[in-house]
Amino acid sequence: MDKFVIEGGERLQGTVRISGSKNAVLPLLAATLLRKGTYTIGNVPRLRDVNTMIRLLELLGVKTKWAEENRLSIDTRDAENHVAPYDVVKEMRASVLVLGSLVGALRKATVSYPGGCAIGERPINLHLKGLSALGCDINIREGYVDVTAKSLKGSRIIFDTITVGGTENILMAAVRAKGETIIENAAREPEVIDLACMLKKMGAKIEGEGTEVIRIRGVDDLEPCDYDVIPDRIEAGTFLAACGITRGNIIVERCVPRHIKAIIDKLKEAGMDIVEDGDSLKAAMTRKRPIAVDVKTIPYPGFPTDMQAQIMALMSISKGVSAVQETIFENRMMHAAELRRMGADIRVIGHAAIVKGKDMLSGAKVMATDLRASASLIIAGLAAYGTTEVSRIYHIDRGYESIEKKLRGLGAKIVRRKDESMGH
Ligand code: EPZ
Repeated sequence: MDKFVIEGGERLQGTVRISGSKNAVLPLLAATLLRKGTYTIGNVPRLRDVNTMIRLLELLGVKTKWAEENRLSIDTRDAENHVAPYDVVKEMRASVLVLGSLVGALRKATVSYPGGCAIGERPINLHLKGLSALGCDINIREGYVDVTAKSLKGSRIIFDTITVGGTENILMAAVRAKGETIIENAAREPEVIDLACMLKKMGAKIEGEGTEVIRIRGVDDLEPCDYDVIPDRIEAGTFLAACGITRGNIIVERCVPRHIKAIIDKLKEAGMDIVEDGDSLKAAMTRKRPIAVDVKTIPYPGFPTDMQAQIMALMSISKGVSAVQETIFENRMMHAAELRRMGADIRVIGHAAIVKGKDMLSGAKVMATDLRASASLIIAGLAAYGTTEVSRIYHIDRGYESIEKKLRGLGAKIVRRKDESMGH
């Protein structure tokens, strides 16, 4: 296993280029199952989770090839298999996103029932409720979800909870259902819009993506297409938080500022100067310490849960006390204990944390527990006094493309090392 060794105290300066969005590319890759043919997907980030999705697609009969560093050629002409096995799904819950496209294409899917993960139980009951509303029969046996449908018929589906993956799965099945499907209380995330845009490019009839009501009129057939993935809004937010904690001055390029309005507003409230300039952001923190701000994670367009750990790291050196409330996942505070090892004063009470800003954190050996927790520990290490070692960074490799290279490009002292203490 690898670790990051970080020497704190460098103020980030320079330009960083944002990669394609992990949470957009995964459903886009799944959507290629909807129509046999050849596709080219551009701006694909080189991530562990992308490799896992590629492995899953190849098990389903898809052929893939990297045409360029971030451009993937996909050939689904021989994709006939409908079983997503346990040993892939256990690697990545987002494998469940092939449910909708397999049902849309083959009227059947057998997917290993995704277990929970570090941040929560991650149920899929709403995905299944939506699929059964479209006419699917669903059986759960031996840890697999068996979905079959004689035919798919449009329906009105109201999600009890806003679910990004649920909205995406129903979108992919509904484009091939007879008649109209209406999804109410739909997720509004940019990644859902990106999927809808690709499906429309394939000939799907979709309206309302990005609002809480999405209407889909089923079509008899679709066409393969080429498509470029949107930039990763969480990566952009992560670099802004890193700039804030190191009192840096950076340019974040190839991002979509309107996708991160809630993050930008919150960081400005905390004392950062952030100026939009087309698809770039100029960010600087001239204050020695950020202003303490309160944060509550809610579905898009609110402050994203995927940025909660990162802003908690920033708040750990604020001038004041901030309340950080997590309303989406039931166990997304594990980074607090590791930040405390670096001297942060954080009290977790249920799904909220009270963060009393300290003048300075101190470097320590800490352990990543999940993807965004890893990002928060790296952010803290960039500003901490002395050396921080972040172990189990396979978590970070899931969702950030070449993060240490990008941070070194901004002047950070961060290197990847073999972690002898953690075995191989
Ligand atoms: C997506 O997960 C993202 N992953 C997550 O990013 C992100 O945190 C999350 O959306 C929320 O924005 C991908 O897009 C691959 P949900 P998803 O369904 O779709 C409950 C990261 O760090 N729920 O919107 O799995 C669920 O338990 C990852 O990049 C049900 O109860 O999230 C949660 O409390 C982490 N029943 C809430 O809804 C269901 O059937 C939101 O989950 C489905 C969800």
